[in-house]
Amino acid sequence: MSFRKSLHKDVAESLNEQIRIEASAAFLYFSLASWANVRGLTGMASWFRGEAHGELTHMNLFVDYLNDRDWQATFATIEAPASAWASPIEAFDMVRTQEHVLLQRMNDLIDMADKHNDHLTHSFLTQFVPQQIADTAEADDVHDRLMLVGGDGHGLILIDQELGRKGEAGG
Ligand SMILES: [Fe+2]
Ligand SMILES: [Fe+2]
Repeated sequence: MSFRKSLHKDVAESLNEQIRIEASAAFLYFSLASWANVRGLTGMASWFRGEAHGELTHMNLFVDYLNDRDWQATFATIEAPASAWASPIEAFDMVRTQEHVLLQRMNDLIDMADKHNDHLTHSFLTQFVPQQIADTAEADDVHDRLMLVGGDGHGLILIDQELGRKGEAGG
């Protein structure tokens, strides 16, 4: 049996779809970084930029996995990300929504692998789970902390500085 035949078409297509999803998540973060940057929220901007690079790293891992299983990855059109938010609270509301969707998506991908008894793909996917849980929790936390300070003033500056330190440390 060839290696390629061992990867089920439905599994391969779902993994390939994840390439577009990670790229589109990256684009939203790049867009948020630019939005924050021109508003003086330079710490937030660097955190968003770091997250964008993180999503591109995930995308590459999916490409590599498909290639390692002798399956050519294909690249689809990415919709333009949002570019206007009324406030940092609104921006982080979109971020946490996206991270929750990505977390559910990981669950769905593992489900798909399990349906096809694909333990190899299951094992590949589990590497994303702890980070995705942490990213989702962090997005929720930042959103909640912004709500606590009213999303403005000194509180906002403190949160911006904190995110800036994390952004420089690489997320
Ligand atoms: Fe990701
Ligand atoms: Fe993420």
